[in-house]
Amino acid sequence: MPHRIKVVMKESAREAAVEAARLIAAVVRSKSRPVLGLATGGTPELTYAELARMHREEALSFAAVRTFNLDEYAGLGPDHAQSYRQFMQRHLFAHVDVRPWNTRVLDGLASSVPAECEAFERQIVAAGGVDLWLLGIGGNGHIAFNEPGSTVDSRTRLVTLTPETIAANSDGRFFSDPAEVPRCALTAGIATIREARSIVLLATGRKKAEAVRQSLHGLFSERCPASLLQDHPDCTFVLDSEAASLLGKA
Ligand code: GLP
Repeated sequence: MPHRIKVVMKESAREAAVEAARLIAAVVRSKSRPVLGLATGGTPELTYAELARMHREEALSFAAVRTFNLDEYAGLGPDHAQSYRQFMQRHLFAHVDVRPWNTRVLDGLASSVPAECEAFERQIVAAGGVDLWLLGIGGNGHIAFNEPGSTVDSRTRLVTLTPETIAANSDGRFFSDPAEVPRCALTAGIATIREARSIVLLATGRKKAEAVRQSLHGLFSERCPASLLQDHPDCTFVLDSEAASLLGKA
């Protein structure tokens, strides 16, 4: 099955991040009540900085925007410095005019995880669905915290992180010691993500090149979760030259 994913290649990580911001801004400007799905990780940081710049200098308003975040570490509360809620505050929410009550990040301390996951799914539906979901990609092809083996019909749920994801997130960028990284997380499922009207996956750097190649040219397979986007009607991969460096090679 040939994939339907649109691929946009930029020379630098910065240009790729700005392109992703441009795609997000276009949705924000074209809808009266835009609904964004957002990602954390090192990759989108520059995209959020660019959106903050557009807010300051180009009057891009988030006042009517609703946001849903992909995932959150289980056991970390919203005030924990390494929680994804805090990441979003630091990199985006504090710098734009989004209304706090319109931002939804899964609660890593929820007393009932199933109830929290069901509420998250219901709230997306009640908001009218996600217009654009921004994604990163893990070195093993994971999207959000959907590790290899996650099914195409998976929904928001509690998952166990793989040792490689724990290592990737404790290389000094976020956690300094693997022992500090929570072993479990709450994550939107593959089906939750695939229901977005459009998807933008941003990947930069050599470490992502093999996962990008597998996602675009490998099998549609749960072994590489991002490959499960291949048949989405409006999915764009925005890549820098390093992330795109293995495309076109066998
Ligand atoms: C993390 C996040 C993902 C993210 C990925 C890549 O584990 N849960 O949503 O896309 O890993 O992160 P980074 O951009 O830091 O490489």
